[in-house]
Amino acid sequence: MKIVSTQRSQVLASRLAAALNIPIIDARWQKFPDGEIYVRAEQPAEKIIICGGILTSEDLIELLLLKDIYYESDISLVIPYMGYARQDRQFNLGEPLSARAVAQVIGKDTSEVLTVNIHEKSVLKYFNNRSNDVSLSVPVANFIKTLLLDNPLVLSPDEGAHHLARDVAKYGGWETDYLEKTRFSGEHVKIEPKSVRVSGRDVVIIDDIISTGGTQATAASMLFKQGARSIHTVGIHGVFASGAFARLTSAGVSSISCSDTIERACSTYSAAEALAKYL
Ligand code: R5P
Repeated sequence: MKIVSTQRSQVLASRLAAALNIPIIDARWQKFPDGEIYVRAEQPAEKIIICGGILTSEDLIELLLLKDIYYESDISLVIPYMGYARQDRQFNLGEPLSARAVAQVIGKDTSEVLTVNIHEKSVLKYFNNRSNDVSLSVPVANFIKTLLLDNPLVLSPDEGAHHLARDVAKYGGWETDYLEKTRFSGEHVKIEPKSVRVSGRDVVIIDDIISTGGTQATAASMLFKQGARSIHTVGIHGVFASGAFARLTSAGVSSISCSDTIERACSTYSAAEALAKYL
């Protein structure tokens, strides 16, 4: 078995290769003058892991090109971050179910697909084969331990997303709650934990995706007003669109972290060990 990766996921793929004690394939990427992507990689491999997160449309093309190189191999596909998974329903008439469109194309002719904390698990059924979603709740909890916080309170941004914060808190032995938004008027909104008070506490807010950072920055500002001593933001997938890192920093958070499902300067913990257990 060998592993090959798109340009997006080289670090995670290398860590996965080390965890599984298998070779990583040297793939050379170039662009044609018209912008089309070209890749050449060592062949053949009887069994191959193809690792590639989808943050941009080009990431998707890179995955498809790699799949074609190894079309005769037994392919396990690892999608560390699956973009388009948030459009998991047709919210309005005339919209695509984008998650289905992407999953059906990339899942075709593979023997298994692994995702990591996918935004909506129901998307897995569109891969048309053996698929599993790997949770990083244990690596997140182990990372939080390194922050050496005093009895941290682990919060999720809303009730629907609480399963992740709850799993992390359970593993770490910490208190947990979810944030609730109360709207008093068009302008006046209050965000606070459902039942626990944050005054004087070290708080960790955990979400699957940090995109614009708006969710966590707004929550952080409100929690500081309620007396939180420190606030740490953790995402599984650090998309960091539209100045998100600066936005969170200016909201006063003490640390901003994500995993290496999208490789960032603030990727403080890895998905490799958790993925290796499934492969
Ligand atoms: C939404 O459904 C996700 O779980 C995240 O809460 C969302 O993507 C965060 O977005 P942002 O960082 O832009 O507030």
